Amino acid sequence: MTQPGPFRVRAHAKVNLALRVGAVQADGYHPLRTVFQSLALHDTLEIRPKRGPFALTCDDPGVPIDGRNLVTRAAFGLWAALGRSGAPGGVAVHLTKHIPMQAGLGGGSADAAAALAALARVWTPRGPRVDLAPIAARLGSDVPYFLVGGAALGLGRGDELFPLVDLPAFFVVLALPGFGVPTADAYRWFDEDSEAGCAATLSAGSIRAWRGLKLDLSNDLEGPVTRRHPVIASIRRVLNESGAAASAMTGSGSAVFGLFATRTGARRAARAVAEAGCAAILTRTVDRRTFQRVHFSFASSSPRHA
Ligand code: C5P
Repeated sequence: MTQPGPFRVRAHAKVNLALRVGAVQADGYHPLRTVFQSLALHDTLEIRPKRGPFALTCDDPGVPIDGRNLVTRAAFGLWAALGRSGAPGGVAVHLTKHIPMQAGLGGGSADAAAALAALARVWTPRGPRVDLAPIAARLGSDVPYFLVGGAALGLGRGDELFPLVDLPAFFVVLALPGFGVPTADAYRWFDEDSEAGCAATLSAGSIRAWRGLKLDLSNDLEGPVTRRHPVIASIRRVLNESGAAASAMTGSGSAVFGLFATRTGARRAARAVAEAGCAAILTRTVDRRTFQRVHFSFASSSPRHA
């Protein structure tokens, strides 16, 4: 088998422009209606063929690199789906983190999807012999989206995907409170608040989206998370007062994003967020074509069977 040389893949972050949540089902999951949008902000996975068992390293000592890491779980999931016995081998992955964790930006899920796509290249160099989407869905509800990218509608658990026409490009300010929100907690708070009758959706504004149609931004998890972490509301106020076209919490939080038409406006807002004592990242939206084109950027040598 011809092995590719070392190469890099990008794992792009996402925001949920809209996230509507239904009542919890018997399986413990909530039916969703969400609009995902890729961001330029990304982690990087460097894939290096090597002898011996699969190995994962990471530049961030706060990231577990054992069997809990979604990249490792992706490697085991793909290896098994390919019908190979034992533990995966022949590859080392080095993960460079830029996407904040427990922020609702999909960092772990993006890493997992990028790992699936990259490892499929190494382990099936004559072209994928396996459908990656079901393996991705078993790793987490958001993972299948990261095989698609751009603007996409997610139904079911968010894993039934319908690619959408690209939105106009926006600059995006991500405001990061100094805490993370575990996904399961946000959904549990949603259930508690629904039972207590106080899970009303917070208004988040609307943007011009497809051919002039308006897209309403709202996140049904934002109310429950804001009730436990009121700083989310203060940060959104800062973004709105700085001229955001719209703002909302992304996914299960804790990050809040603002959309801006100009880089200057976004820079000004990022400064205001920082002055309010909150870390800020300035990035922009990425359309599906760009997502798919830049997904693989090769290091010293390219795989022969791209
Ligand atoms: O699928 P994932 O592992 O990312 O989900 C983490 C947790 O978030 C689930 O265990 C569940 O508690 C909650 N969740 C949910 N409904 C969804 C997606 C996630 O309740 N549609």
